[in-house]
Amino acid sequence: MKIIVFLFISFLRTVLSSSPSPKYDSIFSFGDSLADTGNFLLTGALAFPVIGQLPYGETFFHHATGRCCDGRLVLDFIAEAYGLPYIPPYLALAKGGKFEHGVNFAVAGATALDAKFFYDRKIGQILWTNDSLSVQLGWFNKLKSTLCSSKQDCANYFKRSLFLVGEIGGNDYNYPFFVGGTIKQLKAIVTGVVETIAAATSLLIEEGAVELIVPGNLPIGCNAVYLTLFRTPNKAAYDQNGCLKAYNGFSKYHNSQLKLALEKLRQKYPHAKISYADYYGAAMRFIHAPQHYGFSEGTSMACCGGGGPYNFNNSARCGHTGSKACLDPKSFANWDGVHLTEAAYRHIAMGLINGPFSTPPLTFTPIKLI
Ligand SMILES: *[C@@H]1O[C@H](CO)[C@@H](O)[C@H](O)[C@H]1NC(C)=O
Ligand SMILES: *[C@@H]1O[C@H](CO)[C@@H](O)[C@H](O)[C@H]1NC(C)=O
Repeated sequence: MKIIVFLFISFLRTVLSSSPSPKYDSIFSFGDSLADTGNFLLTGALAFPVIGQLPYGETFFHHATGRCCDGRLVLDFIAEAYGLPYIPPYLALAKGGKFEHGVNFAVAGATALDAKFFYDRKIGQILWTNDSLSVQLGWFNKLKSTLCSSKQDCANYFKRSLFLVGEIGGNDYNYPFFVGGTIKQLKAIVTGVVETIAAATSLLIEEGAVELIVPGNLPIGCNAVYLTLFRTPNKAAYDQNGCLKAYNGFSKYHNSQLKLALEKLRQKYPHAKISYADYYGAAMRFIHAPQHYGFSEGTSMACCGGGGPYNFNNSARCGHTGSKACLDPKSFANWDGVHLTEAAYRHIAMGLINGPFSTPPLTFTPIKLI
């Protein structure tokens, strides 16, 4: 009997060790500054040159990489958790970058809707970039021919990949909000933004993607730039965390529409695993109990900025004259008034990988703790 059990166990071992490793082989990412690991900087970053200098990048890389952060992003932590190298920006490939483990197409400032949408509405000139989601999908298509040849070949390749479709869509609202758009006006474009994200998700599935993560929007009413621009003496406008209720309500509205759209996609593509990443909930966890997550300075004050009640000053933004970075970024959730710190992104990534903020949960358990 003992011998049989022993043989059975060694048989199991053989089977298990010859099956594919329990992780993703590669990651493909699309999105904006929450996910960009260098594309925007490689385009010249004319609208935001300070991204190419310290203090951007000071925490982990110790030099500016083009990330809108002091250190690593959610995408970087996901790569780490699955034992993959950091995902190189697509635009670095022309310069001889390696991409065996995936490519990042995200561009800081990118919108889900095409730039033309904003130019037609006379606010195109404030866009940082025209590299919207459809441009990023075009890059993906171009690169695909170098990764795999036939439809079947590509399907085999992409079924071992994790696709991150976002975060994207936040800028479609940021730009108009920052030039006076109202919540009511912007609610009218949510359907279009969500449809664009869903269409991109759909297209990737048609190309062979099987596992996808589609993030929602962060609670913008808790963000230093929103708190500064829309500051009001009306106490009733704020929730118990000091966030602007109406703007958080707007994020929730976008997220609920996105969740509905993803549910439709799941019915259309039952073989695919389309996971909604609840960035809102993951961020709310530390906004609600900052001390518990190491944010001794709270979550609404920016680490790097030029003064003001939230340390966000549009005339002295992080990296510009008149601004300075805090000494201990990990005690802040907000990095530069708009983007979050590495410490905040780590908590969000943990919330996605270890749960409960990915629905359904990711297929593989991480091979490394982040
Ligand atoms: C985006 O497109 C518009 C209109 O085609 C053009 O005028 C503008 O220079 C472009 N912006 C960037 C950053 O490439
Ligand atoms: C914002 O920055 C400008 C330029 O450095 C400065 O003159 C102004 O005092 C700052 N505002 C606040 C509230 O710190």
